[in-house]
Amino acid sequence: MSELLQTVEWEAGRVRLIDQNALPAELKYVELEDWRQCAEAISTMVVRGAPAIGCTAALAMAMAARMLIATDRTLFLQRLETVASALKAARPTAVNLAWAVDRLMRLATETQGTTADLKEVIQETAVAMLQEDVEINRRMGRFGADLLPEQGGVLTHCNAGALATVGYGTALGVIRAAKEQGKQIEVFADETRPRLQGMKLTAWELIREGIKVTLIADNMAAALLQQGKVQCVVVGADRIAANGDTANKIGTCALAIVASHYHVPFYVAAPVSTFDMNLPNGSGIPIEERNPEEITHIAGERIAPVGVQVWNPAFDVTPACLISGFITEQGVLKPPWPDSLASLQTRNSAAT
Ligand code: MRU
Repeated sequence: MSELLQTVEWEAGRVRLIDQNALPAELKYVELEDWRQCAEAISTMVVRGAPAIGCTAALAMAMAARMLIATDRTLFLQRLETVASALKAARPTAVNLAWAVDRLMRLATETQGTTADLKEVIQETAVAMLQEDVEINRRMGRFGADLLPEQGGVLTHCNAGALATVGYGTALGVIRAAKEQGKQIEVFADETRPRLQGMKLTAWELIREGIKVTLIADNMAAALLQQGKVQCVVVGADRIAANGDTANKIGTCALAIVASHYHVPFYVAAPVSTFDMNLPNGSGIPIEERNPEEITHIAGERIAPVGVQVWNPAFDVTPACLISGFITEQGVLKPPWPDSLASLQTRNSAAT
């Protein structure tokens, strides 16, 4: 088994990221020296996946704080707030980004002392968030592994693995933990059009670790479930509203509908930082729309006819009624929604 991937790292004041746009052809790293480069890496998806972009944004805040020239505390906080807003705008749907940035902004505001003290506490906390992320994923993995069959197929969508987090993963973390317990799991990864994270990232990550993975095109999921090849579906999430409605990579809702039709359990693995208790339901979740070229072009080549209109939402919202359970670091939550979600301890989350 290969060494666990570390997607986001802090090295002597620099941020080191796996360049996910280069995978699977090449495992290469980029080093960033400035918070603006981090914002760019988030919007161009060099780094992607809700927890990974949250942690990258946290390190970007630490970089910005280090470089801010403001002896006056009020001015320092004002300038940091400008950075925080720019980072949050880099990708709007995944609430982990706003959660991480707001957590550091709140910490800076509440910390007494000089601007030097604030810089230190921001950096310490941002760096600690990396380790925290891996530990949370491992806890989620342990809770979620119990839900997986002793033997059978698990379908996942997009990439909710080590590459979408600092390491280990959410949905793939659950699969890793089940494998560690000796369960005989075969993973089915769909391609995840248009950016193909399932094919390029999930399949690569699992092959690298010797976990059996079969690739399918997105339109094959219904046939796969109809033939009984899948015993459960596990996906990640970008934002979960207080009633359980869940935003995740476009195509997730279709999988949940198919799973419900064939009575296959559909689980969402997500840390508490992905729950946005400020939103009563999914209708308020901002859905990022991306460049039409992600659809009209494949590997840089235009496939679609010139002049065609394109709709390219990066995420969809799965209604809570289609979700069999949420796997969090605090345990597994089961319906009825929204009652069971009220038990979540969301301190330091988007809700606070
Ligand atoms: O557009 P992406 O690749 O950032 O989308 C990622 C997803 O939708 C993941 O499923 C989600 O962020 C959870 S990652 C643990």
